[in-house]
Amino acid sequence: MSDVVTMDDLSNEEILSILDDSERLVPVAKGEVHLPLLEGKVLANMFYENSTRTRMSFETAMKRLGGSVLNFSSTGTSVAKGETLFDTMQMVDGYADIAVIRHPRQGAAQYSADAIGIPILNAGDGAGNHPTQTMLDLFTIREAHGTLEGLNVVLVGDLRYGRTVHSLSHALTRFGAKLTLVSPETLRMPDEIVTDLRSSGSEISETTELSDVIPEADVIYMTRIQKERFPDEDEYTKVAGIYMLNATDMDGSKDGMIVMHPLPRVGELHPSLDSTKNARYFQQAFNGVPTRMALLCRSLGVKIPKKVKK
Ligand code: CP
Repeated sequence: MSDVVTMDDLSNEEILSILDDSERLVPVAKGEVHLPLLEGKVLANMFYENSTRTRMSFETAMKRLGGSVLNFSSTGTSVAKGETLFDTMQMVDGYADIAVIRHPRQGAAQYSADAIGIPILNAGDGAGNHPTQTMLDLFTIREAHGTLEGLNVVLVGDLRYGRTVHSLSHALTRFGAKLTLVSPETLRMPDEIVTDLRSSGSEISETTELSDVIPEADVIYMTRIQKERFPDEDEYTKVAGIYMLNATDMDGSKDGMIVMHPLPRVGELHPSLDSTKNARYFQQAFNGVPTRMALLCRSLGVKIPKKVKK
């Protein structure tokens, strides 16, 4: 099966192999090496929700590998006239070789994968999953620490609605990470996810206090409070701005500790942090290009050479 809808679609062995492929593709992602592995292939980039990084990095990945891209959004298309997701996906099945979909409804990526034959990569379905983000997150963590095994990872912010942390927590615990979940009470990680993580034998702790857990962290993964998913704006106002990091918060942290964020940031990371050795979020965003290149190749059945020559 070549769809990637949740991290369950990838075994640990496949994850590590995709990360190795991604590493070899970095010079291609930077435009230093020409490697047209996907020449003649067409990607449909289907975005029913806003995006900067996911959309652009998929487009860059496809184009750097010699493929082309159809960009689609819910405005300016026949979605505005009432066309259903099912019908739109039937068109995509005929126009493209692979589709990336972001949609506000949880389950929309699986629905699309069931509806058509070409491979589907889930680029975020509501508060559900964001597995291609997880792949670039894992790449970034392994790049910094040399391993995914046994790290102490602190996930901070909107753990209820944040799809990046839902996918990432599952993947990390499969590699033996210890997770510390930091959120306000109203934005705790859903009970079914925490139960699932614990049932796999993982060590999971929960707190509302970020400062207490910084000294033991190998990775601090900050997230934005997902304003657009709150049914009531007053509830959002109560938690907006609750967790922020600045450069001085890094004092006393472990050597090699990195701060990540899927971005966009809306106040969680003070600009003073950007020039610290801990900040990894811009590198993390770049890492979307090689990892998405590797994912596109895998889903299209294209092998990446063992040596990528300059
Ligand atoms: N990290 C992420 O999904 O960013 P975008 O919403 O800009 O795609």
